[in-house]
Amino acid sequence: MQNILVTGGAGFIGCNYVRLMLEKYSDYRVVVIDKLTYAGRLENLQDLAERYGDRYAFVQGDICDGAAIDGVIAQYDIDTIVNFAAETHVDRSILEPDAFVKTDVLGTYTLLESARKGGNLRYHQISTDEVYGHIAGDHNSLEDDKMMPRSPYSASKAAADHFVHAYHITYGLPVTISRGANNIGPYQYPEKVVPLFVTNALAGESLPVYGDGQQMRDYQYVVDHCEGIDLVLHQGVIGEVYNIGTGKEMTNLAMVEILLDELNLPRTLIRHVEDRQGHDRRYSMDVRKIMSLGWEPSYTPEEAIRASVRWYVDNRWWWEPIRSGEFREYYQRVYGNRKVIA
Ligand code: NAD
Ligand code: DAU
Repeated sequence: MQNILVTGGAGFIGCNYVRLMLEKYSDYRVVVIDKLTYAGRLENLQDLAERYGDRYAFVQGDICDGAAIDGVIAQYDIDTIVNFAAETHVDRSILEPDAFVKTDVLGTYTLLESARKGGNLRYHQISTDEVYGHIAGDHNSLEDDKMMPRSPYSASKAAADHFVHAYHITYGLPVTISRGANNIGPYQYPEKVVPLFVTNALAGESLPVYGDGQQMRDYQYVVDHCEGIDLVLHQGVIGEVYNIGTGKEMTNLAMVEILLDELNLPRTLIRHVEDRQGHDRRYSMDVRKIMSLGWEPSYTPEEAIRASVRWYVDNRWWWEPIRSGEFREYYQRVYGNRKVIA
């Protein structure tokens, strides 16, 4: 493993992963391919060319474009593909599912074909706990549980997981899949709940909690997730799936209270608004399999929330230009006419 192609490397988790790989392995070259959608930001990678020289390269391109992928594989002698590229926001998938099917399903298939034609390259797929769907009772999802996706986003990610598995069984492609819980931390586009709420609060705006706020999520620090992905890539059993999360969930309201406490702002900023359509009430994964490889998170969910809040407080240069661009139109569309319920 020497020349890694990271798709979606200009996005939130991708850029944290690229940074980790370049720092950790001085003999690896990391090539990013990214379409630069609204969520892909060159500023997330802006210091890397100077710091790492030709160990790092960026190519603007679409994972649905097989010829472009084949060209990058040949040009950089790629031996490993890690696929982060996706449309990732559930609320956007409810408004416009089309792009999700294209990138998350067709894009994954296109990468798998390129990996196969390129001589069965090592392939790792970044998946999500959302493929398991809403988890009732006190069950924790195991890797071989049935996928029961319930949003256009999670249905697209589940379809991609099926293709990855099928390429392993049919063509012997050396694949692994990791399914991550909610990531938070530096460089997360402020449509996702933690950066949205921190930046709203700093702008003196209210925090729109969907429904009663009793939904359960496992908020993990993004660098912990990236360490887990790295471990699966190097030590995971080929053909297997690994859940990655802290294994500890909390309600959204508890998350918001920690966030406001770190900002020293009052809870009167909270507004309960009309719920997300088809909102999954609870995700919860069993993470013993990744832990058996020697991984454990270095941040608890509460530490992850506090560290994330501080990053947005300290990095206005990063999010202020985003919030004044395409984001405003999106915000108006999703929240403009949303009923306040409490
Ligand atoms: P993100 O939205 O921040 O970044 C996605 C990146 O993919 C962007 O840089 C975007 O430009 C790029 N992209 C989109 N369409 C593309 C295309 N057709 N071709 C090339 N590049 C394209 O997303 P993220 O939160 O960093 O998520 C990364 C991956 O991790 C996704 O596969 C997502 O499903 C998965 N995941 C995310 C979380 C989370 O909490 N954020 C948790 C588990 C799994
Ligand atoms: O679980 C992993 C998934 O986490 C990833 O696969 C997705 O790519 C990522 O977007 C994320 O999905 P969620 O839907 O869980 O994340 P989001 O930040 O959108 O919402 C987190 C919780 O907060 C969820 O229960 C909905 C709620 N929420 C969200 C927003 C944006 C609100 O209450 N208000 C909001 O305005």
